Amino acid sequence: MVETFYITTPIYYVNAKPHLGHAYTTIVGDVARRFKEMQGLDSFFLTGTDEHGDKIIRAARKENVSPRVYVDKISDMFRALWPELNIKYDRFIRTTDAEHIAVVEHVLQKIWDSGDIYFSEYEGMYCFGCERFYTERELVDGKCPDHEMAPETIKESNYFFKMSRYQDWLIDHIHKHPDFIRPERYRNEVLAFLREPLEDLCISRPKSRLKWGITLPFDKDYVTYVWFDALLNYVSALNYPDGELYHKYWSSVQHIVAKDILKPHGIYWPIMLKAAGIPLYKHLNVHGYWNVNHQKMSKTLGNVAEPLDLKNIYGLDVFRFFLMREMAFGLDSNFDEETLIQRNNSDLANDLGNLFKRVITMTHKYFKGVIPNLDTETEEELQQFDSGGLKSDAANAISAFESAMENFAFHKAISSIWELVSSMNKYIDLMAPWELAKKKSNRTQLATVIYDLLEGLRVVSGLLYPFMPESSLEMRKQLGMDAKHEFDTIDKLRTWKYMAPGTEIPKAATLFPRCEIKSFSDEADNAEETGETGVVPPLKPQIAIDEFARADLRVATVLTAEPVPRAKKLLKLEVDIGEKRTVVAGIAGSYTPDEIVGKQVIMVVNLKPVKLMGIMSEGMILAAVDDKKVLVSTIDKPIKSGTIVK
Ligand code: MSP
Repeated sequence: MVETFYITTPIYYVNAKPHLGHAYTTIVGDVARRFKEMQGLDSFFLTGTDEHGDKIIRAARKENVSPRVYVDKISDMFRALWPELNIKYDRFIRTTDAEHIAVVEHVLQKIWDSGDIYFSEYEGMYCFGCERFYTERELVDGKCPDHEMAPETIKESNYFFKMSRYQDWLIDHIHKHPDFIRPERYRNEVLAFLREPLEDLCISRPKSRLKWGITLPFDKDYVTYVWFDALLNYVSALNYPDGELYHKYWSSVQHIVAKDILKPHGIYWPIMLKAAGIPLYKHLNVHGYWNVNHQKMSKTLGNVAEPLDLKNIYGLDVFRFFLMREMAFGLDSNFDEETLIQRNNSDLANDLGNLFKRVITMTHKYFKGVIPNLDTETEEELQQFDSGGLKSDAANAISAFESAMENFAFHKAISSIWELVSSMNKYIDLMAPWELAKKKSNRTQLATVIYDLLEGLRVVSGLLYPFMPESSLEMRKQLGMDAKHEFDTIDKLRTWKYMAPGTEIPKAATLFPRCEIKSFSDEADNAEETGETGVVPPLKPQIAIDEFARADLRVATVLTAEPVPRAKKLLKLEVDIGEKRTVVAGIAGSYTPDEIVGKQVIMVVNLKPVKLMGIMSEGMILAAVDDKKVLVSTIDKPIKSGTIVK
């Protein structure tokens, strides 16, 4: 049976748009998965969104929309981003999916039946930001360390999960499996935490306080704590307990998280699994935090979205490479445009790009662009010339790469590729093909040198595949290789003399152009000067015409407009689309009711109606939206209400 690999990212909260931090973790998942495929494993990659809880309710309220509308919108933003980053996931799970909810209920019931959940009154300090109770010793100067606000004392009857029972068992498990949580610093952090008595976990919220959650199967007046719900996504996505996917992949599961959510994953989750009788995960891989321009990422500093835009300026693969090369997995790292450009220019344009060009140019110059033929030579003769040891350098690079990748030490894996690049550059200097080319009698040796260099390039491009899939394919094409296959397996990379002599290769092209420091920060400054807000968001992936045609767009004439009480941004409109419709539109920041009445606008008329501030909205008016303005689309000249727009 083929070995399997199941890799997960955290499921992201939908209270904010995706940013660099989310992108990094998900790219790590993609890199890990592509690497395992190179090893011939059958892999499954899960990501998704975490949609219940207080945080989400508050974010939806802020936008004056129902939680449902809100979570759909933000979840779609995450889903749309991953293909833009060339991330190949197998499942995108949402905690509002019916199948997920059923699994959460099932597990809660199972743990309740086994007696690990009890009901009790509790008075404690509750941080609404974190949605959890805090103990005295967890607070810093009496405040929640994350939200820097004093928690509120609340008294409630709630359900508790007997985590304390499992404390010794968990300590023992971590000792017996030293790489259960890795890198080591995070394992130590969890062990340090477990040195203090572990408190039971409050796993319910009364519906009087929070309704947006999964109802406890054994008490309809409570919903479950968002973490208890969220963590179970890792099994529900595989259709636990009976699903085929679960049986196939669960035993190989590894999680990726950042240090912010170490505790739920390093403590709650293994205990939940144990209590539910589900085998534990193999590894929890924990990475550090990205800072941007040496500052913590923060929405108020406005440094959250920018990094993602850099992929459009410098290219996706350069962006992916930079993230994976720059962050030592486990430690914090800094993101700034200048360092990205330096990495591009030194590692990619200079070291790798030049090597490629040099070797391919020489192949054209000395062998008319054909991979030299070694068939007529005996092994002994060839070995005599194979003096640069490239073959063993490549084998060493592959081994170092593989072991670093196994340990999620991606920056080390990349370094091992660059060691090979540098050996190849040295090999060229040592063998001086231009000297060999001067004498006919050196022809065989010249052929061996060029052939070995081409083989070296094949290995380099193959090892780069998980990080830079598109560039890796481009390199394969430049080496005249079969572009039908996206990648070479590790086994193929280990097979020296894999390339077929006689194959024609295209003329050298520039793989990685050098970049100058310019771009986003300048554009952002200009935008500020001209009063524009932000850059144009990246384009969405292509869709087919019939997907677009599912939206029924019509001319709507605005008949009446009035403000919506308690909602600063909303106007309630009566429109004519051949029939009368009510629409709640978020345009009050840009139009007074008088300004909008009489306009003919474009409306999507077949959206499911939604209730906004108690008013049923029966469509959506198209508008151009930026941070400050919402400007409706109008029709150039008067036309009959209800006319089709296409
Ligand atoms: N919903 C929970 C996770 C539940 S998993 C069962 C959550 N969501 S989150 O949207 O806040 O995402 C946190 C994760 O996003 C981090 O663990 C990390 O993967 C990623 N990052 C968010 N900010 C980050 C940085 N500044 N740097 C690196 N990654 C970060 O927690």
